Amino acid sequence: MTFDILNVRRDFPMLSRKMNGKPLIYFDNAATTHKPEEVIKTIEDFYREENGTVHRAIYEFAAIATEKYSSVRSQVQKLINAKEEDEIIFTRGTTDSINLVASSFGEAFIKPGDEILITEMEHHSNIVPWQLLAEKKGAILKYIPLTDTGTLELDLIDDLLTEKTKILSLTHISNVTGIRNPIKFLTEKAKQVGAKVMVDGAQAIAHIPIDVQKLDVDFYAFSSHKMYGPTGAGILYGKKELLEKMPPYQGGGDMVDQVTLEKTTYQKPPLRFEAGTPPIAQVIGMGSALAYLERQSLSTIATWENSLLKHATHALQQLQEVTILGNSEDKGAIITFKVKGHHPLDLGTILGLKGIAVRTGHLCAQPTLKHFGLTTALRLSFGLYNTPEEIDLFIKALKEAIVLLNPNISD
Ligand SMILES: Cc1ncc(COP(=O)(O)O)c(C=O)c1O
Repeated sequence: MTFDILNVRRDFPMLSRKMNGKPLIYFDNAATTHKPEEVIKTIEDFYREENGTVHRAIYEFAAIATEKYSSVRSQVQKLINAKEEDEIIFTRGTTDSINLVASSFGEAFIKPGDEILITEMEHHSNIVPWQLLAEKKGAILKYIPLTDTGTLELDLIDDLLTEKTKILSLTHISNVTGIRNPIKFLTEKAKQVGAKVMVDGAQAIAHIPIDVQKLDVDFYAFSSHKMYGPTGAGILYGKKELLEKMPPYQGGGDMVDQVTLEKTTYQKPPLRFEAGTPPIAQVIGMGSALAYLERQSLSTIATWENSLLKHATHALQQLQEVTILGNSEDKGAIITFKVKGHHPLDLGTILGLKGIAVRTGHLCAQPTLKHFGLTTALRLSFGLYNTPEEIDLFIKALKEAIVLLNPNISD
């Protein structure tokens, strides 16, 4: 299938907007993606014509809402090739999914002295929940350090994984360097000591095909808003036999079987983990985004984004002031860099004035930036609708910004 980029771009209303009077060039897809017209319409139609709650009533619109909402579970199951639909839990996003596992798996399986292994390249949302858990349970939090090029120090893995390790939780693709981790290899290692594996798929799900059975991971988490769907919804995949052993994370309506004033019995997973009225319109909107992604094909998107990554990497490498953080053959379409002599916020401000949206700051990954001796950086992250022409315009604008900030240097 060929990739019709012009048609794809027409699907996204935000791409025809201007920012500061200039056509928008959007390179902050790792933070959030824009939404295709059909996703926006799905959400609008739901609220205009079908609004109702799920699981709770017998009338027509409650039944329609329940049907539409529930059907997204099987869409997600197919997307990630989960064995069963019941392994798909609707959450509010990646952060919520990771907190669910840290809290519920942690409650059931982590004892004082147990070890939790993460990595030095995690987003804060895959660090802080484990720190909270370790503190609460008297467990020990360890991490896999990074090499100079930003890949995981895999030589240390046999020392870091011990009989005490209960869970290894790591990102699939770094939101800083874009480096993709060897999940299958690490899962095999973790299994040898009986540890479970949780993968933060926030930066992978909309960019490469995912097969949770092939990866053999125990948990996989992601957010709808980073895959062309609405905010407020996300997914936790968990292996059924494990979910069944995990206690509820939150209590409330929908997750219960029988409630008396003395005692409550709970639903089976996934409902056990979905307390309260869920984000119904958001989940239905996420279903529309999944249908869109499926039509574009994730392997086609991966090829397209990889060509954007190569184009941008090559162009940035020609600028002597620029240093790209991290280096690997196996990368998602994310580039974080620094520019000698210039603060990222100054450059980001000038680029913004030129209509170019890039991310600046600590990227919610302070330990990763610290590894590279930084507290702040600039990041480009591509989505399926970006083009090489946009990258060329960005490079031109970056060169202009560098000259503007330091008029003594000419390019
Ligand atoms: C790797 C990674 N993990 C987790 C998150 C958190 O996602 P959310 O804020 O949608 O919960 C992000 C968001 O930037 C991310 O990049």
